Amino acid sequence: MRLVFLGPPGAGKGTQAEILSEKTGLPHVSPGDVFRKAVRDGTPLGRRAKEYMDAGRLVPDDITVGIIKEKITSADCSRGFILDGFPRNIKQAEALEQIMAETGLRIDAAVDFHVSTEVLIERSVGRRVCRSCGATYHVKHNPSRRGDLCEVCGGPLVQRDDDREETVMRRLAVYEEQTAPLVEFYRRKGLLRRVNGDQPLASVTAEVGAVLSDLGIGER
Ligand code: AP5
Repeated sequence: MRLVFLGPPGAGKGTQAEILSEKTGLPHVSPGDVFRKAVRDGTPLGRRAKEYMDAGRLVPDDITVGIIKEKITSADCSRGFILDGFPRNIKQAEALEQIMAETGLRIDAAVDFHVSTEVLIERSVGRRVCRSCGATYHVKHNPSRRGDLCEVCGGPLVQRDDDREETVMRRLAVYEEQTAPLVEFYRRKGLLRRVNGDQPLASVTAEVGAVLSDLGIGER
């Protein structure tokens, strides 16, 4: 099963992709996570990506498409994948179509998380991530049971550099301009499924589950 998760910054794509990955065993593939790990590791990719991320802009397509192609055509993804945050513009969506055509596979559904702007800002600004392993929390909606430390690895929890309000506003503008047109792109293909992301976490998980049952995808 090959899924695309669409939605603006802070919509809950990463949180739901992680939950679904646990339930189904499908790998969670996120360019944002790949870039943040590269930044933590201090690699040349990380240095290049950080410039764009801190400015709230998209990392250039040639870099991003290459990384995603390598991941989704690897043995790990042979049973399928959950693509979270890719594609993010029409050019990337066409590149994904091309990769699927070359491998004889197809995207089964694009799940769009719909959330009001006010909530998106509150979720992004209140998000905390583990500096060591990247696990995600929220100061109010999903706090760590260990306070300022990660429940998974004990690392310190910090705010993402791109989660300052000014950068969040820029990321939302980039979303409207470049990513929102993908909703229509996938609707025309008959692949679009909408989820109300403006609900408590467990309710969103249930709605995603209902969409997947509808598609005939079960938990492992
Ligand atoms: P990326 O990491 O993909 O960021 P994003 O798409 O902006 O999405 P977010 O991670 O902000 O939000 P999310 O929807 O995953 O929400 P989350 O589950 O964390 O990208 C970062 C940057 O990398 C980009 O700006 C760009 O520079 C670059 N990049 C990435 N992909 C690229 C691409 N394809 N091309 C070029 N550049 C690319 O939830 C948010 C918060 O809310 C969390 O704290 C969570 O705990 C909480 N929460 C989640 N669900 C709920 C709920 N139902 N109720 C209450 N709180 C909730």
